Amino acid sequence: MKALILSGGSGTRLRPLTYSQQKQLIPVANKPVLFYALEDVIEAGADEIGIILGPNKEQVIETVRSADWSVPIKFIYQGEPKGLAHTILVAEDFLDEDFVMYLGDNILRDGIVSHEKRFHSLGSSASVLLTPVDDPQRFGVADLNPDGSIRRLVEKPKVPPSNYALVGVYFFTPLIIEACKSIKPSWRNELEITDAIQWLIENGHKVDASFVEGWWKDTGKPEDIFEANRLILDDIDGRCDGEVEESRIMGRVVMEEGTRIRRSVVKGPCIIGRDSIISDSYIGPYTSIGIGCQICGTEVEDSIIMDESRIVNAGKVVESLIGRNVRIKECDSLPRGSRMIVGDNSDISL
Ligand code: DAU
Repeated sequence: MKALILSGGSGTRLRPLTYSQQKQLIPVANKPVLFYALEDVIEAGADEIGIILGPNKEQVIETVRSADWSVPIKFIYQGEPKGLAHTILVAEDFLDEDFVMYLGDNILRDGIVSHEKRFHSLGSSASVLLTPVDDPQRFGVADLNPDGSIRRLVEKPKVPPSNYALVGVYFFTPLIIEACKSIKPSWRNELEITDAIQWLIENGHKVDASFVEGWWKDTGKPEDIFEANRLILDDIDGRCDGEVEESRIMGRVVMEEGTRIRRSVVKGPCIIGRDSIISDSYIGPYTSIGIGCQICGTEVEDSIIMDESRIVNAGKVVESLIGRNVRIKECDSLPRGSRMIVGDNSDISL
């Protein structure tokens, strides 16, 4: 089986971060979201992976190449995002056998091994992953036959036929290529994968539904990223590879190599990346601090702080998503609780 992972698109709902960073590279618990997809498809037996690239293609290639992967990875340039079905047409030459398509901004707690087994044991033309949600209008939604197979799929419906959302993982045979060639762009001018799957159904092919059991997150919006960060940190084990001086460490805390904690209180679950320095600060639960950061005289909780950022005497920082190389420093203004979504290389005085 091959895998096609989508790392294109423009990430408008995550601006300003996505002005300078491809959204699938945003770190959750200090790991780019895209890496969770790569790990899942490898675990499910993919022996070759194609990654779809969009505007920030060099960034994605460099980040993927910075880690070791046990299977060959091919990069496929899509350019402008013209829809999920369009990515299949762009990758047509690569997709010469069964494959799993995985949206690179999705995270599934329990991976996709059981879904891959089900797809190959049933021998259907396609299988989509589903899960019940409270807000189906935000997703592709499935209408099911009494035998559990798919009757109809609708993209972001105003009146959803059920509360079963399409999770961003799909198993296909190469037949889907013909389906993608047979459909027309939707009202938003995209080639929709839901329309291509609907074409399969209308042409007599069975499409199976496979239900996700553990949690699933589409990290398209800041609040989803915080939630994914909490969910991943909830499962981590503590580890201390750094130095601790006159500080209190409570709960499960990952301190990577070269971290230094001085006169501070750190309460897990949280992760502090390589070579970061924490001094005279409180780092609270559900915080992920990247590589080479400095936090001084500040309370941080439930936040993601990316590599090389520096926060000094900034009061209390909560539910904040802070890009790379950001500077935040003391200022006398009130209120002390700061809520921020800040792009890379910003410079903020508080
Ligand atoms: O997350 C699940 C949902 O993902 C499904 O329920 C929907 O049926 C499906 O259409 C999709 O909806 P989104 O609105 O989340 O799609 P988005 O445009 O965010 O694209 C999903 C991923 O695919 C994202 O990582 C960007 C990438 N992408 C998207 C497009 C349109 C590409 O690489 N190329 C593209 O042309």
